[in-house]
Amino acid sequence: MTITVTGATGQLGRFVVAALKRQGADVVAAVRDTAKGESLGVPARLADYDRPETLVPAFEGTDRLLFVSGSEAGRRVEQHRAVVEAAVKAGVGHIVYTSITRADTSINPLAPEHRATEELIVASGLPYTFLRNNWYLENYTGNLGTALEHGVILGAAGDGRVAAATREDLAAGAAAVLTGDGHAGRIYETGGDVAFSMADLAATITAQSGTEVAYRDLPEDDYAQALIGFGLPEGFARVLAAADTSIARGSLDVATGDLSRLIGRPTTTLAEAVTAALKQRG
Ligand SMILES: NC(=O)c1ccc[n+]([C@@H]2O[C@H](COP(=O)([O-])OP(=O)(O)OC[C@H]3O[C@@H](n4cnc5c(N)ncnc54)[C@H](OP(=O)(O)O)[C@@H]3O)[C@@H](O)[C@H]2O)c1
Repeated sequence: MTITVTGATGQLGRFVVAALKRQGADVVAAVRDTAKGESLGVPARLADYDRPETLVPAFEGTDRLLFVSGSEAGRRVEQHRAVVEAAVKAGVGHIVYTSITRADTSINPLAPEHRATEELIVASGLPYTFLRNNWYLENYTGNLGTALEHGVILGAAGDGRVAAATREDLAAGAAAVLTGDGHAGRIYETGGDVAFSMADLAATITAQSGTEVAYRDLPEDDYAQALIGFGLPEGFARVLAAADTSIARGSLDVATGDLSRLIGRPTTTLAEAVTAALKQRG
């Protein structure tokens, strides 16, 4: 059985390829940069969502396709349509798509592109599984240096809770679906077992580092301005700030246990992720 992974050179895709290799699966990496793909240690084929002509050859012979959502918000419906059409043309047996928490109803500004993609996949008639991934824990632990330096974490998420999970756990969930049976037609709300608030995050960092870090909640527009001040492009800053407002309203407070059931163990906790991130800082 051949499993093809798109976005295989990305941070999530690399973990999926590694997990599949450990399980002895027959893996093909579908990548937009074949030179980068060589480092994966599996056959790499060119597959650029912006170049539909590359996609059918990349997917040929694929029994199961992990379709990792693209990273260019605003351009993804067109790109994803090309991927789904190519999967149909290539005769892919089953498509597994990395979506977003509650894609069908979410007020998260990033959800509509995922909702549209899920609809395209359903309409394609291909057997499918949706992995509605919650936020990555790394979104919160990847930048601990700044929090420790300033003693503050900024956001607009209020008391909203996030059932974030590490990329590695989410990748293990994807690998379990890709190599397992009985997942066709299933929608998994994949995330951490325990949702946490930004105050919980600040308290965990404080407890583990010994440095006082507080969460400061800002109005959405002020948070967007702060992100722009940190150098983010305005459009992206505004989407992130609006996403935080959606978190305040519960958009990511969805802890279902789906991921831990898929991987057969509890998901990595906030405390464990903070420990690992602090260790990495040395
Ligand atoms: N849950 C979350 O918190 C969260 C956060 C951010 C993003 N996401 C979503 O989850 C996806 C995977 O996350 P990640 O951490 O692995 O992101 P990432 O490290 O940015 O990787 C994105 C992958 O998509 C590939 N890609 C982008 N545009 C493409 C195109 N036009 N054609 C083919 N491949 C393309 C990239 O290729 P290259 O390696 O060549 O760049 C990369 O391999 C993201 O793309 C995004 O949709 C989720």
